[in-house]
Amino acid sequence: MPRQAYVNGSYKPHREAAVHIEDRGYLFADGVYEVVPVHNGILVDEDLHLDRLDRSLSELQIEAPMSRPALKLVSRELMRRNGLNNGFLYMQVTRGVAPRDHKFPHDTKPALVMMTRQMKPHSEKVLSEGLKVITLPDQRWARCDIKSVSLLPNVLGKQAAAEAGAYEAWQVDGDGQVTEGTSTNAWIVTEGNRVITRNASNAILNGITRITLLNLIRTEGYELEERSFSVEEARAAREAFLTSSTSFVLPVTQIDGQPVGNGHPGILTTKLRQHYMDYMQSLRQSA
Ligand code: PDD
Repeated sequence: MPRQAYVNGSYKPHREAAVHIEDRGYLFADGVYEVVPVHNGILVDEDLHLDRLDRSLSELQIEAPMSRPALKLVSRELMRRNGLNNGFLYMQVTRGVAPRDHKFPHDTKPALVMMTRQMKPHSEKVLSEGLKVITLPDQRWARCDIKSVSLLPNVLGKQAAAEAGAYEAWQVDGDGQVTEGTSTNAWIVTEGNRVITRNASNAILNGITRITLLNLIRTEGYELEERSFSVEEARAAREAFLTSSTSFVLPVTQIDGQPVGNGHPGILTTKLRQHYMDYMQSLRQSA
């Protein structure tokens, strides 16, 4: 059976799934999204993702398209239809379809689309060699805590990284402090083996992988600081890594062409990745 997508109330073959040209998501990027990892058929941290979706929607005064139980039902049905075991579920909610006008319409129904994508496990090469990142100025708006589909600076940053032969761009604020990657959160490990990641604020997306990993780090008793760090501190760090729903925990071994630490994935990074993988493996599906 061909892959299917969910579009505003119906399941459609993926390649025919489309929205109206006056959907405000298309015209104004007036919408939000979530990427929920699926591991062994289980939606990882589903409720945390749905909590963040609710928050993004309410910050933008967009109504929820359906109740949480209904969203969960549609998610599971789409995964079932697509035989999704490992990959992710993408969901996007926009303010809906209305004649083009910047100010909000009052009578539109929010639009909901969902799709799934299979993912292969991360390659041995990435795990054994790590990833390269570049740094560049953070050109985004002041509400990066909202998971908005308005991603142009992120798109340009990721493209610049790719053109430089890197996987990710770490964005840097006006004070020379790293905010986060274009689609991942940024972490370093100091010479004293302290794990550092920027504190949650309007300057970053509070990643669900970040939240879960912070909990695992606390449970395991590693030293932790949630604070900003400069590009210089990152370049001088012993280890570096990034997190997201599609990367989980991946080592960073080069920043702006300079090796991080000894240039190999860090010991603590490798342990933290394993803790996260074990965590996903331990999950059972909630209703
Ligand atoms: N990106 N920071 C940004 C800017 C992101 O877009 C993401 C997620 C993250 C990590 O968040 P989480 O751990 O909840 O995935 C941090 C998704 C994966 C994407 O846009 O594809």
